[in-house]
Amino acid sequence: MPERPQIVFAGTNGGALTQFEDYAAVGGFAPLRKARSMAPDDVIAELESSGLRGRGGAFFPTGRKWAFVPKPDQLAKPHYLVVNADESEPGTFKDREIMLRVPFRFLEGCLIAAHAISSQHVFVYIRGEYEQEFEVLRESLEAMRKADLLGGVTVVIHRGAGAYICGEETALLESLEGKRGQPRTKPPFPAIAGLYAAPTAVNNVESITTVTSVLELGATEYAKLGVENSTGTRVFSLSGDVVNPGNYELPHGITLRELIYDVGGGVPGGRELKAIIPGGSSTSILTGADIDTPLDFTSLVQAGSSIGSAGVIVIDERCCMVQLGIRVSQFYEHESCGKCTPCRVGTRWLTQILQKIEGGRASQPDLDLLLSVCDRIMGKCLCPLGDSDAIAVLSYVDRFRDEYQAHIDLGRCPFDGESSLEGILAPSAMHESPAHGIARV
Ligand SMILES: Cc1cc2nc3c(=O)[nH]c(=O)nc-3n(C[C@H](O)[C@H](O)[C@H](O)COP(=O)(O)O)c2cc1C
Ligand code: SF4
Repeated sequence: MPERPQIVFAGTNGGALTQFEDYAAVGGFAPLRKARSMAPDDVIAELESSGLRGRGGAFFPTGRKWAFVPKPDQLAKPHYLVVNADESEPGTFKDREIMLRVPFRFLEGCLIAAHAISSQHVFVYIRGEYEQEFEVLRESLEAMRKADLLGGVTVVIHRGAGAYICGEETALLESLEGKRGQPRTKPPFPAIAGLYAAPTAVNNVESITTVTSVLELGATEYAKLGVENSTGTRVFSLSGDVVNPGNYELPHGITLRELIYDVGGGVPGGRELKAIIPGGSSTSILTGADIDTPLDFTSLVQAGSSIGSAGVIVIDERCCMVQLGIRVSQFYEHESCGKCTPCRVGTRWLTQILQKIEGGRASQPDLDLLLSVCDRIMGKCLCPLGDSDAIAVLSYVDRFRDEYQAHIDLGRCPFDGESSLEGILAPSAMHESPAHGIARV
C-alpha cells in the first residue's frame, strides 16, 4: 500500500474539520498569521519555491500566476482573487469534498492568497448544485468573521447556475459580472484585466487549500513530497469500474497501478482493465498496458495524455469505445457555449458521426470524416472546450482503432448490446463514496 500523507486533509482523521475550535486545535489559522507577518512578495516567493502548480487542470505554477498580478502602485485598481469552485469536469469530484471536510483550510487559503496579491476582495464561484458545500462554506465564513480573521477582506460566495463552461476562467468572470457565461479572448489575461477589467488571480479550490498547507509546512518540506515538476500531494477522484471509488489524497508520482489496485481495490469481478482516463474527460485515454504510468505531469505527457484535473476513470473490458465516444461528445456538444463555430458545429458533428458508426450505418469515409472534423476543431476554437472533445475522441480512435473498424466492417456494434458504461462519466451515477460517505457524481 503506498504511503498516504495528508496535506489537504491534514488533521481530519478521515472525518471533517467543520468546527472552528476543532480546526484551530490542529494548528488552523497559524498559516494565515504567518502569511500576514510576511511581505506579499515573500509569500509569492514561498509559493514559487514550493513548486505548487494549479489543480484546476492547466497545472500552471501558482506563485508565478500571482507574480503576474501588478502591484497596487503599478496599477491603481482594486485587485481580486476569484476562486474557481465550479467543479464540472466529468470524473472530477474532489473540490466538493475539500469544501465539505476542510472548509476553514480552504477559506484560510483564500485570505493568504488575497494578502499575496494585495487584494481586499475575494469571490468564490461555486457550482450551483453544491448546496451543502455552499452552506458549509457560508457557516465557516461566518465563524471566521466573528473571530475577526477576515482582516478587512470581503469574501463573497457566489453560486453558479449549472454551466460547465463557467469553469473556464474568463467565462466565469463574465458570469460573475452578471453577463452570459462565455469565454473572452486572451490576451489580456485575467492577471492584468480580469474581473471588472481589474487585476485578478483565478485559482482552483484545491490549489488555494494547498496554499495554507505550504505556509504551514514551509516550501522546502512541501516540495519533498511528490516528484520533480509535480511536487506535493493530489486529491485523485477515482471512479468508473473500480471496487472502491472515492477521493484519495496521495503524492504525485504514485502509479496508476497503485491507485487503482492497491488503493482502489482493482476492477470488480476480476474483469480485465481496458482503459484509463487519467485526468478528467478532457484528457486522452490510456490503455490497460499503461498501468505502470506514474501520476505526475511529465510522466503523463510522455504517455500521451495529461494529469488534467486528476479525475481517474477506470474502464473495464465491457465498455464499447464508440459508445464512450458518444457519451463524451454529447457532453461537450451540450456544454458548448456556441460562441465559435468549430466548437458549436464540430462537437455536434462528432456526436452524429459516432452515432452512425455505433448504429452500424457507417462506411470507411465516415471514419476519415470523424478524424477530419477533429482536425478542424483542434487549435481553432476560442477556448479549450472544443479541443477537449476532439482530443478525447481522437485518442479513443487512436488507441482502439480496431474496435472502431470492427463497427464498420461488421455493420453493427461488436458488443451486440452487451456493452456497459455504467458508472463511467455518468451524471446519473450518484453513489455514496465508500471512502468518506459523501455523495459523488
Ligand atoms: C471548459 C473548461 C472548464 C473548466 N472547468 C474548471 C473547473 O470546474 N474548476 C477549475 O478549477 N478549473 C476549471 N478550468 C480551468 C480554469 O480555466 C483555470 O485554469 C483554473 O481555475 C485556474 O486555477 P489553478 O491555476 O489553480 O488550476 C476549466 C477550463 C476549461 C477550458
Ligand atoms: S470553444 Fe466552445 S465553449 Fe469555448 S468559446 Fe468556443 S463555442 Fe464556446
